[in-house]
Amino acid sequence: MAAAVTQPISSPEPTAAELIATRPHLSMHAMDGLLMDDVPLNAIADATGTPVWVYSATAVLRRYRTLATALADAKLNAHIHYAMKANDRLAVLRLFASEGAGADVVSEGELLRARAAGIPADRIVFSGVGKGERELRLALTEDIAQINVESAEELDMLSALAASMGRTARVALRVNPDVDAETHAKITTGRAHNKFGVPYGDTVALYRRAAALPGIIPIGLATHIGSQILSLAPYRVAFARIAELVVALRAESLPVESVDCGGGIGIPYRDEPAPLPAAFAGAIRGAFHNLDVRIAVEPGRWLVGPAGVLLASVVLVKRAPGGRFVVLDAAMNDLIRPAMYEAWHGIVPLSAVDAAAPVEPADVVGPICESGDTFARDRMLPPLAPNARVAILDAGAYGSVMSSSYNARPVAAEVLVDGADWSVIRPRPSHADLWRDELMPHWRE
Ligand code: LLP
Repeated sequence: MAAAVTQPISSPEPTAAELIATRPHLSMHAMDGLLMDDVPLNAIADATGTPVWVYSATAVLRRYRTLATALADAKLNAHIHYAMKANDRLAVLRLFASEGAGADVVSEGELLRARAAGIPADRIVFSGVGKGERELRLALTEDIAQINVESAEELDMLSALAASMGRTARVALRVNPDVDAETHAKITTGRAHNKFGVPYGDTVALYRRAAALPGIIPIGLATHIGSQILSLAPYRVAFARIAELVVALRAESLPVESVDCGGGIGIPYRDEPAPLPAAFAGAIRGAFHNLDVRIAVEPGRWLVGPAGVLLASVVLVKRAPGGRFVVLDAAMNDLIRPAMYEAWHGIVPLSAVDAAAPVEPADVVGPICESGDTFARDRMLPPLAPNARVAILDAGAYGSVMSSSYNARPVAAEVLVDGADWSVIRPRPSHADLWRDELMPHWRE
Protein backbone atom coordinates (compact mmCIF):
# COMPACT_ATOMS: atom_id res chain seq x y z
CA MET A 1 0.00 0.00 0.00
CA ALA A 2 1.47 3.39 -0.97
CA ALA A 3 1.88 5.74 1.98
CA ALA A 4 0.13 9.11 2.07
CA VAL A 5 2.31 12.19 1.84
CA THR A 6 1.75 12.92 5.45
CA GLN A 7 0.72 10.17 7.79
CA PRO A 8 0.90 6.43 8.15
CA ILE A 9 -2.38 4.95 7.01
CA SER A 10 -4.41 2.91 9.41
CA SER A 11 -8.03 3.61 8.48
CA PRO A 12 -9.83 1.46 5.89
CA GLU A 13 -9.65 2.78 2.35
CA PRO A 14 -12.54 5.13 1.51
CA THR A 15 -15.01 3.74 -1.04
CA ALA A 16 -15.81 5.48 -4.33
CA ALA A 17 -19.10 6.65 -2.81
CA GLU A 18 -17.30 8.13 0.21
CA LEU A 19 -14.71 9.88 -1.96
CA ILE A 20 -17.48 11.44 -4.08
CA ALA A 21 -19.60 12.41 -1.07
CA THR A 22 -16.78 14.49 0.39
CA ARG A 23 -16.20 16.43 -2.87
CA PRO A 24 -19.24 18.68 -3.44
CA HIS A 25 -18.54 19.37 -7.12
CA LEU A 26 -18.61 15.62 -7.90
CA SER A 27 -21.67 13.38 -8.02
CA MET A 28 -22.58 10.00 -9.49
CA HIS A 29 -25.53 9.83 -11.87
CA ALA A 30 -27.02 6.40 -12.57
CA MET A 31 -27.02 6.89 -16.36
CA ASP A 32 -24.45 9.61 -17.05
CA GLY A 33 -21.85 8.41 -14.58
CA LEU A 34 -19.54 10.72 -12.70
CA LEU A 35 -20.48 14.40 -13.02
CA MET A 36 -18.39 17.46 -12.26
CA ASP A 37 -20.85 20.22 -11.47
CA ASP A 38 -23.58 19.42 -14.06
CA VAL A 39 -21.30 17.98 -16.74
CA PRO A 40 -20.86 14.24 -17.32
CA LEU A 41 -17.11 13.66 -17.33
CA ASN A 42 -17.66 10.99 -20.00
CA ALA A 43 -18.89 13.71 -22.37
CA ILE A 44 -15.62 15.58 -21.92
CA ALA A 45 -13.53 12.44 -22.38
CA ASP A 46 -15.55 11.55 -25.52
CA ALA A 47 -14.75 14.95 -27.01
CA THR A 48 -11.12 15.43 -25.96
CA GLY A 49 -9.88 11.89 -25.51
CA THR A 50 -7.89 10.87 -22.45
CA PRO A 51 -5.85 11.66 -20.47
CA VAL A 52 -7.45 15.03 -19.78
CA TRP A 53 -7.39 17.34 -16.78
CA VAL A 54 -10.76 18.79 -15.72
CA TYR A 55 -11.19 21.63 -13.22
CA SER A 56 -14.37 22.99 -11.65
CA ALA A 57 -14.56 26.78 -11.67
CA THR A 58 -17.35 26.70 -9.10
CA ALA A 59 -15.20 24.62 -6.76
CA VAL A 60 -12.23 26.98 -7.11
CA LEU A 61 -14.42 30.02 -6.44
CA ARG A 62 -16.22 28.36 -3.55
CA ARG A 63 -12.91 27.48 -1.93
CA TYR A 64 -11.48 30.97 -2.46
CA ARG A 65 -14.56 32.59 -0.94
CA THR A 66 -14.58 30.19 2.01
CA LEU A 67 -10.99 31.10 2.85
CA ALA A 68 -11.53 34.83 2.31
CA THR A 69 -14.60 34.72 4.55
CA ALA A 70 -12.74 32.81 7.27
CA LEU A 71 -9.97 35.42 7.29
CA ALA A 72 -12.49 38.28 7.37
CA ASP A 73 -14.51 36.61 10.12
CA ALA A 74 -11.32 36.38 12.20
CA LYS A 75 -11.13 40.18 11.87
CA LEU A 76 -7.84 39.98 10.04
CA ASN A 77 -6.79 42.60 7.52
CA ALA A 78 -5.70 39.79 5.23
CA HIS A 79 -5.00 39.40 1.53
CA ILE A 80 -4.82 36.13 -0.36
CA HIS A 81 -1.97 35.75 -2.83
CA TYR A 82 -2.71 32.55 -4.72
CA ALA A 83 0.49 30.46 -5.05
CA MET A 84 0.10 30.02 -8.78
CA LYS A 85 2.77 27.34 -9.01
CA ALA A 86 -0.03 24.95 -8.00
CA ASN A 87 -1.93 25.58 -11.25
CA ASP A 88 -1.02 28.46 -13.50
CA ARG A 89 -3.43 28.09 -16.41
CA LEU A 90 -4.68 31.49 -17.54
CA ALA A 91 -8.33 30.45 -17.23
CA VAL A 92 -7.71 29.40 -13.63
CA LEU A 93 -5.78 32.58 -12.83
CA ARG A 94 -8.62 34.61 -14.33
CA LEU A 95 -10.98 33.15 -11.73
CA PHE A 96 -8.73 34.48 -8.98
CA ALA A 97 -8.28 37.83 -10.74
CA SER A 98 -12.06 38.21 -10.97
CA GLU A 99 -12.31 37.76 -7.18
CA GLY A 100 -9.68 40.42 -6.53
CA ALA A 101 -7.09 37.90 -5.36
CA GLY A 102 -3.38 38.49 -5.68
CA ALA A 103 -0.68 36.04 -6.70
CA ASP A 104 2.47 34.60 -5.16
CA VAL A 105 4.95 34.16 -8.01
CA VAL A 106 8.34 32.45 -8.06
CA SER A 107 9.70 33.23 -11.52
CA GLU A 108 9.73 35.71 -14.36
CA GLY A 109 7.40 33.37 -16.23
CA GLU A 110 4.87 33.29 -13.40
CA LEU A 111 5.00 37.06 -13.01
CA LEU A 112 4.33 37.58 -16.72
CA ARG A 113 1.59 34.95 -16.67
CA ALA A 114 -0.13 36.54 -13.65
CA ARG A 115 -0.08 39.92 -15.37
CA ALA A 116 -1.37 38.37 -18.62
CA ALA A 117 -4.29 36.90 -16.65
CA GLY A 118 -5.15 40.33 -15.28
CA ILE A 119 -3.77 40.13 -11.75
CA PRO A 120 -2.61 43.67 -10.91
CA ALA A 121 1.07 44.18 -10.05
CA ASP A 122 0.16 45.72 -6.70
CA ARG A 123 -1.32 42.37 -5.64
CA ILE A 124 1.72 40.30 -6.56
CA VAL A 125 4.37 39.02 -4.14
CA PHE A 126 7.56 37.37 -5.40
CA SER A 127 8.97 34.42 -3.43
CA GLY A 128 11.91 32.11 -4.07
CA VAL A 129 15.41 31.38 -2.93
CA GLY A 130 17.16 32.21 -6.19
CA LYS A 131 15.56 35.10 -8.04
CA GLY A 132 17.86 36.10 -10.86
CA GLU A 133 18.75 39.63 -11.83
CA ARG A 134 16.39 39.60 -14.80
CA GLU A 135 13.58 38.47 -12.54
CA LEU A 136 14.24 41.14 -9.93
CA ARG A 137 14.51 43.74 -12.68
CA LEU A 138 11.07 42.75 -13.98
CA ALA A 139 9.63 42.86 -10.45
CA LEU A 140 11.02 46.39 -9.99
CA THR A 141 9.83 47.55 -13.40
CA GLU A 142 6.34 46.20 -12.69
CA ASP A 143 6.51 47.74 -9.19
CA ILE A 144 4.95 44.66 -7.59
CA ALA A 145 3.58 44.76 -4.07
CA GLN A 146 6.34 42.88 -2.28
CA ILE A 147 9.54 40.95 -2.82
CA ASN A 148 10.23 38.23 -0.25
CA VAL A 149 14.00 38.30 0.24
CA GLU A 150 15.58 35.07 1.44
CA SER A 151 19.22 35.98 2.12
CA ALA A 152 21.70 38.77 2.82
CA GLU A 153 23.18 38.10 -0.62
CA GLU A 154 19.85 38.60 -2.34
CA LEU A 155 19.21 41.77 -0.34
CA ASP A 156 22.48 43.32 -1.55
CA MET A 157 21.78 42.32 -5.14
CA LEU A 158 18.28 43.81 -4.99
CA SER A 159 19.48 47.02 -3.38
CA ALA A 160 22.15 47.59 -6.02
CA LEU A 161 19.72 46.84 -8.81
CA ALA A 162 16.91 49.01 -7.44
CA ALA A 163 19.27 51.92 -6.82
CA SER A 164 20.67 51.66 -10.36
CA MET A 165 17.14 51.69 -11.77
CA GLY A 166 15.99 54.55 -9.55
CA ARG A 167 13.34 52.25 -8.07
CA THR A 168 12.37 51.16 -4.58
CA ALA A 169 11.65 47.57 -3.59
CA ARG A 170 9.13 46.83 -0.86
CA VAL A 171 10.80 43.94 0.91
CA ALA A 172 9.64 41.30 3.34
CA LEU A 173 12.37 39.17 4.86
CA ARG A 174 11.45 35.51 4.61
CA VAL A 175 12.36 34.01 7.94
CA ASN A 176 13.29 30.39 8.46
CA PRO A 177 11.70 29.71 11.86
CA ASP A 178 13.26 26.21 12.21
CA VAL A 179 9.92 24.49 12.67
CA ASP A 180 9.05 20.97 11.50
CA ALA A 181 5.87 21.15 9.44
CA GLU A 182 5.40 17.37 9.86
CA THR A 183 4.93 16.81 6.15
CA HIS A 184 6.81 14.93 3.41
CA ALA A 185 10.56 15.68 3.55
CA LYS A 186 10.56 16.90 -0.05
CA ILE A 187 8.05 19.64 0.72
CA THR A 188 9.31 20.72 4.15
CA THR A 189 10.81 24.20 3.96
CA GLY A 190 11.00 25.66 7.46
CA ARG A 191 13.77 23.63 9.11
CA ALA A 192 17.11 25.34 9.74
CA HIS A 193 18.88 22.91 7.38
CA ASN A 194 16.50 23.69 4.48
CA LYS A 195 17.68 26.12 1.82
CA PHE A 196 14.86 28.58 2.49
CA GLY A 197 14.71 31.87 4.32
CA VAL A 198 16.93 34.01 6.52
CA PRO A 199 18.18 32.17 9.63
CA TYR A 200 15.92 33.13 12.52
CA GLY A 201 18.74 34.58 14.62
CA ASP A 202 19.98 36.80 11.77
CA THR A 203 16.65 38.44 11.00
CA VAL A 204 16.75 41.53 13.21
CA ALA A 205 20.26 42.50 12.09
CA LEU A 206 19.41 41.95 8.44
CA TYR A 207 16.18 43.97 8.74
CA ARG A 208 18.14 46.78 10.33
CA ARG A 209 20.56 46.64 7.43
CA ALA A 210 17.73 46.56 4.91
CA ALA A 211 16.31 49.76 6.40
CA ALA A 212 19.63 51.50 5.74
CA LEU A 213 20.18 50.20 2.19
CA PRO A 214 19.38 52.33 -0.86
CA GLY A 215 16.45 51.17 -2.97
CA ILE A 216 14.95 49.04 -0.18
CA ILE A 217 11.97 49.65 2.07
CA PRO A 218 11.51 46.81 4.53
CA ILE A 219 7.78 46.40 5.05
CA GLY A 220 7.64 43.21 7.06
CA LEU A 221 8.34 39.52 7.50
CA ALA A 222 7.32 36.38 5.65
CA THR A 223 7.46 32.69 6.39
CA HIS A 224 6.42 29.48 4.64
CA ILE A 225 7.16 26.27 6.48
CA GLY A 226 6.08 23.64 3.96
CA SER A 227 3.25 22.17 1.96
CA GLN A 228 0.41 19.70 2.62
CA ILE A 229 0.47 20.62 6.32
CA LEU A 230 -2.27 18.79 8.20
CA SER A 231 -1.73 20.07 11.72
CA LEU A 232 -2.04 23.62 12.98
CA ALA A 233 0.59 23.06 15.67
CA PRO A 234 3.63 23.85 13.46
CA TYR A 235 1.88 26.95 12.14
CA ARG A 236 1.23 28.16 15.68
CA VAL A 237 4.87 27.68 16.63
CA ALA A 238 6.14 29.42 13.49
CA PHE A 239 3.69 32.33 13.79
CA ALA A 240 4.58 32.83 17.46
CA ARG A 241 8.25 33.02 16.51
CA ILE A 242 7.50 35.58 13.78
CA ALA A 243 5.37 37.62 16.21
CA GLU A 244 8.34 37.76 18.59
CA LEU A 245 10.44 39.19 15.78
CA VAL A 246 7.82 41.84 15.01
CA VAL A 247 8.02 42.97 18.63
CA ALA A 248 11.82 42.91 18.60
CA LEU A 249 12.00 44.96 15.40
CA ARG A 250 9.54 47.53 16.65
CA ALA A 251 11.49 47.81 19.89
CA GLU A 252 14.30 49.14 17.69
CA SER A 253 11.84 51.55 16.04
CA LEU A 254 12.00 49.59 12.82
CA PRO A 255 8.60 49.74 11.06
CA VAL A 256 6.79 46.44 10.42
CA GLU A 257 3.60 46.81 8.42
CA SER A 258 2.88 43.31 7.28
CA VAL A 259 3.38 39.61 7.90
CA ASP A 260 3.14 37.06 5.11
CA CYS A 261 2.10 33.75 6.67
CA GLY A 262 2.83 31.66 3.56
CA GLY A 263 0.77 28.75 2.29
CA GLY A 264 0.88 25.04 2.89
CA ILE A 265 -2.63 24.28 4.17
CA GLY A 266 -3.16 20.57 3.57
CA ILE A 267 -6.14 18.84 2.02
CA PRO A 268 -7.59 15.38 2.72
CA TYR A 269 -6.49 13.27 -0.27
CA ARG A 270 -7.76 10.16 1.48
CA ASP A 271 -9.56 10.84 4.73
CA GLU A 272 -6.90 12.68 6.68
CA PRO A 273 -8.22 15.27 9.14
CA ALA A 274 -7.11 18.56 7.59
CA PRO A 275 -7.23 22.09 9.00
CA LEU A 276 -10.38 24.08 8.29
CA PRO A 277 -9.96 27.64 6.99
CA ALA A 278 -11.50 29.06 10.17
CA ALA A 279 -8.95 27.21 12.29
CA PHE A 280 -6.08 28.39 10.07
CA ALA A 281 -7.38 31.95 10.37
CA GLY A 282 -7.62 31.42 14.12
CA ALA A 283 -3.95 30.40 14.30
CA ILE A 284 -2.97 33.60 12.48
CA ARG A 285 -5.21 35.68 14.70
CA GLY A 286 -3.81 34.03 17.82
CA ALA A 287 -0.31 35.21 16.96
CA PHE A 288 -0.90 38.59 15.37
CA HIS A 289 -4.26 40.07 16.44
CA ASN A 290 -2.79 42.64 18.80
CA LEU A 291 0.17 43.60 16.62
CA ASP A 292 -1.73 45.69 14.06
CA VAL A 293 -0.11 44.13 11.01
CA ARG A 294 -1.52 43.54 7.55
CA ILE A 295 -1.61 39.79 6.85
CA ALA A 296 -0.82 38.04 3.60
CA VAL A 297 -1.34 34.33 2.91
CA GLU A 298 -0.03 32.30 -0.04
CA PRO A 299 -2.11 29.13 -0.38
CA GLY A 300 -1.93 27.09 -3.57
CA ARG A 301 -3.00 23.48 -3.10
CA TRP A 302 -5.91 24.22 -0.76
CA LEU A 303 -7.56 26.50 -3.32
CA VAL A 304 -7.27 24.33 -6.44
CA GLY A 305 -6.24 20.78 -5.48
CA PRO A 306 -9.66 19.29 -4.78
CA ALA A 307 -11.20 21.18 -7.72
CA GLY A 308 -9.46 19.09 -10.41
CA VAL A 309 -9.38 15.52 -11.67
CA LEU A 310 -7.28 13.67 -14.22
CA LEU A 311 -9.41 11.44 -16.46
CA ALA A 312 -7.78 8.33 -17.85
CA SER A 313 -8.87 5.22 -19.79
CA VAL A 314 -7.94 1.64 -19.08
CA VAL A 315 -5.63 0.33 -21.82
CA LEU A 316 -5.69 -3.23 -20.56
CA VAL A 317 -5.85 -5.24 -17.38
CA LYS A 318 -2.89 -7.52 -16.90
CA ARG A 319 -2.94 -10.51 -14.58
CA ALA A 320 0.49 -11.46 -13.38
CA PRO A 321 2.09 -13.19 -10.38
CA GLY A 322 2.36 -9.74 -8.81
CA GLY A 323 -1.43 -9.39 -8.94
CA ARG A 324 -3.81 -7.40 -11.11
CA PHE A 325 -2.33 -4.45 -12.98
CA VAL A 326 -4.78 -1.91 -14.34
CA VAL A 327 -2.77 -0.12 -17.03
CA LEU A 328 -4.03 3.41 -17.77
CA ASP A 329 -3.31 5.74 -20.66
CA ALA A 330 -2.24 8.37 -18.10
CA ALA A 331 1.25 8.09 -16.66
CA MET A 332 3.83 9.61 -14.35
CA ASN A 333 4.63 12.19 -17.02
CA ASP A 334 1.07 13.51 -16.47
CA LEU A 335 0.71 13.25 -12.68
CA ILE A 336 4.04 12.75 -10.96
CA ARG A 337 2.89 13.13 -7.33
CA PRO A 338 2.54 9.40 -6.53
CA ALA A 339 6.00 8.67 -7.98
CA MET A 340 7.64 11.70 -6.39
CA TYR A 341 6.01 11.96 -2.96
CA GLU A 342 4.34 8.54 -2.51
CA ALA A 343 1.12 10.55 -2.68
CA TRP A 344 -2.27 8.87 -2.36
CA HIS A 345 -4.90 10.02 -4.86
CA GLY A 346 -8.46 8.66 -4.93
CA ILE A 347 -9.37 6.74 -8.10
CA VAL A 348 -13.05 6.54 -9.04
CA PRO A 349 -14.65 4.84 -12.05
CA LEU A 350 -16.63 7.14 -14.35
CA SER A 351 -19.36 4.54 -14.84
CA ALA A 352 -21.98 4.20 -12.10
CA VAL A 353 -22.14 0.46 -12.79
CA ASP A 354 -18.38 0.09 -12.35
CA ALA A 355 -18.45 2.27 -9.24
CA ALA A 356 -21.02 0.00 -7.58
CA ALA A 357 -19.40 -3.33 -8.56
CA PRO A 358 -17.55 -5.51 -6.00
CA VAL A 359 -13.94 -4.47 -5.49
CA GLU A 360 -10.67 -6.37 -5.31
CA PRO A 361 -7.07 -5.14 -5.07
CA ALA A 362 -5.24 -3.80 -8.10
CA ASP A 363 -2.09 -1.88 -8.85
CA VAL A 364 -2.98 1.09 -11.03
CA VAL A 365 -0.09 1.92 -13.33
CA GLY A 366 0.81 3.93 -16.40
CA PRO A 367 2.44 2.64 -19.58
CA ILE A 368 5.91 4.16 -18.97
CA CYS A 369 8.89 1.81 -18.60
CA GLU A 370 9.61 2.57 -14.95
CA SER A 371 8.21 0.78 -11.93
CA GLY A 372 7.73 4.20 -10.35
CA ASP A 373 5.02 4.83 -12.96
CA THR A 374 2.44 3.64 -10.45
CA PHE A 375 -0.61 5.62 -9.32
CA ALA A 376 -1.73 3.20 -6.60
CA ARG A 377 -0.83 -0.15 -5.11
CA ASP A 378 -3.33 -2.71 -3.78
CA ARG A 379 -6.18 -0.31 -4.44
CA MET A 380 -9.67 -1.76 -4.01
CA LEU A 381 -11.27 -1.36 -7.43
CA PRO A 382 -13.97 -3.11 -9.45
CA PRO A 383 -13.08 -5.30 -12.45
CA LEU A 384 -12.34 -2.56 -14.95
CA ALA A 385 -12.42 -3.53 -18.63
CA PRO A 386 -10.32 -2.02 -21.42
CA ASN A 387 -11.64 1.47 -22.33
CA ALA A 388 -13.32 1.87 -18.94
CA ARG A 389 -12.55 5.31 -17.61
CA VAL A 390 -11.45 6.50 -14.19
CA ALA A 391 -11.01 9.88 -12.52
CA ILE A 392 -7.88 10.40 -10.46
CA LEU A 393 -9.04 12.83 -7.78
CA ASP A 394 -7.59 15.99 -6.24
CA ALA A 395 -5.35 16.60 -9.23
CA GLY A 396 -6.04 20.33 -9.53
CA ALA A 397 -2.81 21.32 -7.75
CA TYR A 398 0.71 20.28 -8.77
CA GLY A 399 -0.78 18.17 -11.56
CA SER A 400 -0.54 19.56 -15.07
CA VAL A 401 2.07 22.15 -14.01
CA MET A 402 4.49 19.35 -13.12
CA SER A 403 3.81 17.24 -16.19
CA SER A 404 6.30 16.60 -18.96
CA SER A 405 6.39 14.98 -22.37
CA TYR A 406 8.64 12.12 -21.19
CA ASN A 407 8.41 9.13 -23.54
CA ALA A 408 7.34 11.59 -26.28
CA ARG A 409 3.89 11.68 -24.76
CA PRO A 410 2.13 14.96 -25.54
CA VAL A 411 0.86 16.57 -22.34
CA ALA A 412 -2.84 16.09 -21.66
CA ALA A 413 -5.55 18.55 -22.67
CA GLU A 414 -7.13 20.73 -19.97
CA VAL A 415 -10.78 21.64 -19.51
CA LEU A 416 -12.65 24.06 -17.26
CA VAL A 417 -16.18 23.18 -16.16
CA ASP A 418 -18.53 25.89 -14.92
CA GLY A 419 -21.98 24.67 -13.91
CA ALA A 420 -23.40 23.12 -17.09
CA ASP A 421 -20.76 24.66 -19.39
CA TRP A 422 -17.34 23.33 -20.21
CA SER A 423 -14.53 24.45 -22.43
CA VAL A 424 -11.06 23.32 -23.43
CA ILE A 425 -8.61 25.80 -21.88
CA ARG A 426 -5.50 24.14 -23.27
CA PRO A 427 -5.61 21.69 -26.17
CA ARG A 428 -3.42 18.62 -26.28
CA PRO A 429 -0.39 19.39 -28.46
CA SER A 430 0.15 17.20 -31.51
CA HIS A 431 3.17 14.93 -31.78
CA ALA A 432 4.68 17.28 -34.35
CA ASP A 433 4.24 20.18 -31.89
CA LEU A 434 6.71 18.41 -29.64
CA TRP A 435 9.53 18.49 -32.19
CA ARG A 436 8.53 21.58 -34.16
CA ASP A 437 11.08 23.89 -32.53
CA GLU A 438 13.97 21.42 -32.49
CA LEU A 439 16.97 22.12 -34.71
CA MET A 440 19.68 20.03 -36.32
CA PRO A 441 23.21 21.32 -35.71
CA HIS A 442 24.22 23.22 -38.82
CA TRP A 443 27.16 20.86 -39.52
CA ARG A 444 24.81 17.86 -39.73
CA GLU A 445 22.22 19.43 -42.02
N1 LLP B 1 4.50 29.97 -0.80
C1 LLP B 1 5.73 29.49 -1.06
C2 LLP B 1 6.90 30.33 -0.83
C3 LLP B 1 5.87 28.17 -1.55
O1 LLP B 1 7.10 27.69 -1.79
C4 LLP B 1 4.73 27.37 -1.77
C5 LLP B 1 4.84 26.00 -2.27
C6 LLP B 1 3.47 27.94 -1.50
C7 LLP B 1 3.39 29.23 -1.01
C8 LLP B 1 2.20 27.18 -1.71
O2 LLP B 1 2.11 26.03 -0.94
P1 LLP B 1 0.74 25.21 -0.90
O3 LLP B 1 -0.30 26.08 -0.27
O4 LLP B 1 0.37 24.87 -2.29
O5 LLP B 1 1.06 24.01 -0.10
N2 LLP B 1 4.83 19.81 -5.72
C9 LLP B 1 4.51 19.55 -4.32
C10 LLP B 1 4.24 20.82 -3.56
C11 LLP B 1 5.36 21.83 -3.63
C12 LLP B 1 5.11 23.12 -2.86
C13 LLP B 1 6.15 24.14 -3.13
N3 LLP B 1 5.95 25.41 -2.51
C14 LLP B 1 3.35 18.57 -4.27
O6 LLP B 1 2.87 18.15 -5.31
O7 LLP B 1 2.93 18.18 -3.17
